[in-house]
Amino acid sequence: MKALVLSGGAGTRLRPITHTSAKQLVPVANKPVLFYGLEAIADAGITEVGIVVGDTADEIREAVGDGSRFGVEVTYIPQDAPLGLAHAVLIAQDFLGDDDFVMYLGDNFIVGGITDLVDAFREDRPDAQILLTKVPDPTSFGVAELDTEGHVVGLEEKPKQPKSDLALVGVYLFTPAIHEAVRSITPSWRGELEITHAIQWLIDAERRVRSTTISGYWKDTGNVTDMLEVNRSVLESVQPLNEGTVDEASELIGRVRIEAGATVTGSRIVGPAIVGAGSVVREAYIGPFTSVSEDCRIEDSEIEYSIVLRGSSVTGVRRVEASLIGRDVEVTPAPRHPSAHRLVLGDHSKVQISS
Ligand code: G1P
Repeated sequence: MKALVLSGGAGTRLRPITHTSAKQLVPVANKPVLFYGLEAIADAGITEVGIVVGDTADEIREAVGDGSRFGVEVTYIPQDAPLGLAHAVLIAQDFLGDDDFVMYLGDNFIVGGITDLVDAFREDRPDAQILLTKVPDPTSFGVAELDTEGHVVGLEEKPKQPKSDLALVGVYLFTPAIHEAVRSITPSWRGELEITHAIQWLIDAERRVRSTTISGYWKDTGNVTDMLEVNRSVLESVQPLNEGTVDEASELIGRVRIEAGATVTGSRIVGPAIVGAGSVVREAYIGPFTSVSEDCRIEDSEIEYSIVLRGSSVTGVRRVEASLIGRDVEVTPAPRHPSAHRLVLGDHSKVQISS
């Protein structure tokens, strides 16, 4: 069995964070979301992994390399344009050959991995096994309709009037029967060859399509609340570890991970929380469910339930909460007079000011 991991796509939903970076590399608890997927694939005993890459190919290659540190062997498959998930299967045919495979969308996060799912598929081998989850707004997903016995009877891609609240999760298992399906469909209104249509083709051809419903799922819907929430749930299982330097005047409470080369002085950190490699925390308070990435500076400030990405600094500000701070950002207090906010915000930024 092989894995096909999709890591193209523009990531418009997580702007401005994905203006400058691949959406699959957005970190959850200081680790790119894609890495959780690759680990889940390796845990399920799959070692041959094809990664479909687009405009952000260089960045993905640099992050993942040959896959050896995940215990897998990676083949990169370039996709010239984002022409759809079924198109990705089409161009991966040489790599996939006649093997069964799991298709994993690199921007999806599945709590608990995929081992049970892969094992069940190996035993029963339906032509397609899909995963579903209840979502509040199904219109930005593929949506499944089930009959009273729970069989999939229809699938629609991003319907305006969804027939259920069951969204297709970005993990699919296929036998080689999918190849005929992806060759038989035509592009959708958005100009893409939809995997949803290919699976519908299998249903119409009376092939076996099975579904499993899960909870514990996240995708880059552009909703920062969801992202903070998935960060929280991953931090729940962080183990305390101090690979940096923490002075005597500092206090680490609960499960706090200080990564290599980070320094903490005169500060109080209440876990679960992570301070990334090379970061500096000085005279600060870091509260629960906060991930501070590498090379950041948190000084004379308080921050809680937030994510701070690489190279950013928060200095001299009283309290930051429920915030997502991108890369190389500076947050500082404004001068006292005149009393005004001074903002330099990139395109698509969102800011809430307490005043
Ligand atoms: C794709 C699929 C959609 C699925 C979603 C899950 O959407 O087309 O059916 O629900 O992934 O991540 P896209 O990311 O292309 O908007």
